[in-house]
Amino acid sequence: MSLFTCPICSLPLIREGQVYRCSEGHCYDVSREGYVNLLPANRKHSKNPGDDKAMAASRARFLDGGWYSPLRDALCSLAVRHMPDGGAFLDAGCGEGYYTQGIFSVLAGSKGSFRLSGIDISKSALKMAARRVPDGEFAVASVYRLPVSSDSISLLLDCFSPLAIDEYRRVLRPGGVFIYVVPAPRHLIELKNVLYERPYENSEDAVEYQGFEYLDILPVSGLMSLDSGALLDLFHMTPYAWKTPKEGVERLEAVTRLDVTMDFRVHIFRRLA
Ligand SMILES: C[S@@+](CC[C@H](N)C(=O)[O-])C[C@H]1O[C@@H](n2cnc3c(N)ncnc32)[C@H](O)[C@@H]1O
Ligand SMILES: [Zn+2]
Repeated sequence: MSLFTCPICSLPLIREGQVYRCSEGHCYDVSREGYVNLLPANRKHSKNPGDDKAMAASRARFLDGGWYSPLRDALCSLAVRHMPDGGAFLDAGCGEGYYTQGIFSVLAGSKGSFRLSGIDISKSALKMAARRVPDGEFAVASVYRLPVSSDSISLLLDCFSPLAIDEYRRVLRPGGVFIYVVPAPRHLIELKNVLYERPYENSEDAVEYQGFEYLDILPVSGLMSLDSGALLDLFHMTPYAWKTPKEGVERLEAVTRLDVTMDFRVHIFRRLA
């Protein structure tokens, strides 16, 4: 039995070889890379929603450079601590699967059994995620309409992806854990100082969400000494790439090395019964 449900009738999907099927007869092919498209065409807002191919490639190169490995290590420890044996993990907005892959490895090494899945609205990103974690399940879908049964997920990760709190509440089991990674005030501040005349700092909020209780807020920070290649990949994987004026981009292209702060907050919640 798959962790995924049919986007048309919401019944569970069963994987048979290279096809997912529900008992109503709706079926979905598994792609060459190993993911399934569960985003109905009428729910797409554009032909290729989410991060495009170039953005996904920049993020994959930057993350594979290991710069954010302190965050990956922190998320892996949390996954081992909060995932019950036999539980189900969902990476909502998993992107290229860098964190998903790390979490798969530590769970495989520490749990008797578990199931792991990732969804993202970007096909380009998901292709990479599915290749990275051949034993996981990956679907093109929106976080705002997860193709996942209610009360089925033990541990849900949202790392820098849109927050769909109502869907997360629906799919998490009572007692399940939700990990939400957000940027802290000084995250990438040196990069923003190059790009903008008046850079702003991110706000730092501890927001209470109905149906959840806070377990912890974990800071993860460090300084990265980036050469121009890594710096440009970092720029192109962020939303700054969409909204920076030309002069800001030119200033960045002239920089050969920059020390850049990474500063994350990992908010950890429990889904109340
Ligand atoms: C900043 S990236 C983070 C990716 C990954 N979690 C990571 O940290 O490497 C945000 C991701 O959210 C995805 N995304 C944007 N809107 C989405 C939606 N409505 N549903 C699912 N994914 C979405 C993008 O395609 C992108 O892969
Ligand atoms: Zn169906």
